[in-house]
Amino acid sequence: MILQSVAIVGGAGYIGSHVAKAFRDDGFEVHILDNLSAGAKGNVLSGTIFHHCDILVPSSLDRFFGTQKVAGVVHLAARKAVGESMNIPLVYTEANVIGTHNVLASMYRYGCKHFIYSSSAAVYGTPDYLPIDEDHPLNPDNYYGYTKKCSEEMISWYGKLVGISSISLRYFNAVGYDHAGEIRGIESNPNNLLPRVMECAIGVRDHIDVFGVDFDTEDGTGVRDYVHVSDLANAHLLAMKYALTCSEKACTHSLNLGSEKGASVYEIIKASREITGRKIPTKEVVRRPGDPATLIASSQQAMEILGWTPKHTDIRDMIETTWEIYKELESAYYASKNRT
Ligand code: WQD
Repeated sequence: MILQSVAIVGGAGYIGSHVAKAFRDDGFEVHILDNLSAGAKGNVLSGTIFHHCDILVPSSLDRFFGTQKVAGVVHLAARKAVGESMNIPLVYTEANVIGTHNVLASMYRYGCKHFIYSSSAAVYGTPDYLPIDEDHPLNPDNYYGYTKKCSEEMISWYGKLVGISSISLRYFNAVGYDHAGEIRGIESNPNNLLPRVMECAIGVRDHIDVFGVDFDTEDGTGVRDYVHVSDLANAHLLAMKYALTCSEKACTHSLNLGSEKGASVYEIIKASREITGRKIPTKEVVRRPGDPATLIASSQQAMEILGWTPKHTDIRDMIETTWEIYKELESAYYASKNRT
């Protein structure tokens, strides 16, 4: 049986490796394209084929697409630190916009016409209403969100003009790890809440700064829509299968991926203390610039168009699967600390 092949650009990253697992376990031949600047070689799953590619080096992309026929591409390689994007915007334009163009241009040169794009809830900015649906205005309030909005618009035009079918998936807050424990790579110097809470639990950091306790929410801390990374990965598989049915005419969609439930910073920290049994001290500090009080998705379109149904919507499961990874590192961390 001829396997359908896909390329996962950024497939050695946290979300990318979960996406690669979803495609591999569904029977696809999976090619991982990554420059390992952020991802880890250890995250490259068994049963996949690794290619060292840099989205800012078009010849490295052409070397792949010119020799390997793939049915479609999932593109996740990007810089994603909201605060950093406001300090080095030109680097974000290059990585997130020009990099995306380079992938699409190489696909076009070699006749690959199906594209799944890792976009973000950050395209919406501060919500005018909740839950946020895809009709909500796109008013990003940070440069990272702008690069995702700009790329989505470019992708949409390429769909109309050069016939590349695409689905942009707007992630809300991706957390958790695969239940089989196959993916174990952690992010170094994370900006996001849950990885920082886990670092605090194993002693890598001594407390968690809570960015603002005066929001208009139940406990005053920020509320976000946390979605299990395995559910997010499954959405990419469904999106690719949908896009592959659009070969006669290019189809273009942008779809939200969230669990449609909110959890506050304090709720995450309280549940993490219960699950890990660790203190996880906190310190109340000023708000982070641009942080909205609440971000919750409507994912009805992804459910209707892709048939996507998030399965792991319990925040405790998301935290437990994360703790399974970090607790393994605790002894190694203390061992190294005692040596220094
Ligand atoms: C969550 C909550 C913080 C850290 C994320 C990604 C971004 C994009 C959108 C994908 C907020 C609070 C955090 C800390 C805290 N995702 N917090 N102390 O800001 O919703 O953005 O989703 O494209 O790339 O970053 O996620 O985890 O940074 O913050 O109090 O040390 O936790 O204020 O309320 P965010 P986050």
